[in-house]
Amino acid sequence: MNGNSIGKALVFTCFGESHGALIGAIIDGCPAGLPLKEEDIQIELNKRRPGFTEISTPRREEDRVEIVSGVYKGYTTGAPICMIVRNRDVKSKPYETVMVKPRPGHADYTAKIKYGGYNDPRGGGRFSGRITAAYVMAGAIAKKLLSLIGVEVLAHTVQVGNIRVENEVSYEDIRRNVYSNPVRCAVPELAEKMMEEILRVSKEGDSVGGVVEGIALNVPVGLGEPVFDSLDSDIAKMLFNIPAVRGVEFGAGFRVASMKGSEANDQYAIRGGRVVTTTNNAGGILGGISNGMPIKVRVAFKPTPSIAKKQRTVNLEIMREEDIEIAGRHDPCIVPRAVPVVEACLAFVLADHALRSNLIPGVIKSDET
Ligand SMILES: Cc1cc2nc3c(=O)[nH]c(=O)nc-3n(C[C@H](O)[C@H](O)[C@H](O)COP(=O)(O)O)c2cc1C
Repeated sequence: MNGNSIGKALVFTCFGESHGALIGAIIDGCPAGLPLKEEDIQIELNKRRPGFTEISTPRREEDRVEIVSGVYKGYTTGAPICMIVRNRDVKSKPYETVMVKPRPGHADYTAKIKYGGYNDPRGGGRFSGRITAAYVMAGAIAKKLLSLIGVEVLAHTVQVGNIRVENEVSYEDIRRNVYSNPVRCAVPELAEKMMEEILRVSKEGDSVGGVVEGIALNVPVGLGEPVFDSLDSDIAKMLFNIPAVRGVEFGAGFRVASMKGSEANDQYAIRGGRVVTTTNNAGGILGGISNGMPIKVRVAFKPTPSIAKKQRTVNLEIMREEDIEIAGRHDPCIVPRAVPVVEACLAFVLADHALRSNLIPGVIKSDET
């Protein structure tokens, strides 16, 4: 299989380029009988859409979804579901030079070498954050499937630059606050500070990174197919497919390296007749299998590579080092727009594994929806 599809029971294929005609997703393996409207997908896409706040790219895209196959009379048919959004606000001129003078931190150089210069460089082509619109479309269907078994997926910004959410945030605050501020942070006071930081850095012609936390609640015990399709490895792989992701950690993550066993182990208890753990350093996964505790995963994003500040690069035509000043329209911080993408990626992997474990039936009866 080439690199354009992912998943085993629920297979997701992503197509399109940033400045091509459209961005699209095909979902194969979705059971028949799931009620699905364009509005279900649109609600998720609207969370990711660019161009509506002062901290996102000024590119104005409506991202209006069209479901072009796999749905009949409002229900999935069991056939592949193809969804598209058309690219409208395209300005390709600033990208005419990136094949000769690659942008530091972006994929211009690696893509040119790999594809012999035949890749579409406009707006980053296949390497644009815009392809994550397809991830969100796939995630919208995954979320609907997960709702059949009571699984809820959330995400929120927990760090922008050096501004961090230090304390545990309640799920209620995440549900209520995340999409009511442009940085997608559940703590309103910190959201304002993060916003100021993004604006400050962007005025300097620079960019800033950060961290998004993804959470899945009510995940049944037993999802994951060790050893090579373990739940954590599949989630990590999906998350690393988001452009600009540089790190993924579950639960206590890298902190476990400095803990003792007695601190890191999550001890068992019985609450309301259920086996639980009294801490969640494992992030809800043990031995590659969900343990019934919330799945918690943190995703580190690098600062946006395309910055206005002058940098050094090479001119590949004449093989000389030169300055580069990057034009085009860019997000000064990727993190806020990546929050719904992390949500979608986590939902997709969980839905794929729920189908693989036969927790979701092959045909959904209307009384189950
Ligand atoms: C939602 C989203 C938006 C992004 N916006 C931009 C952008 O405006 N400018 C830019 O240079 N990179 C942007 N990126 C990041 C690049 O696509 C990414 O850094 C590039 O493809 C290189 O891949 P790598 O960082 O994973 O190595 C964005 C990524 C995401 C997920």
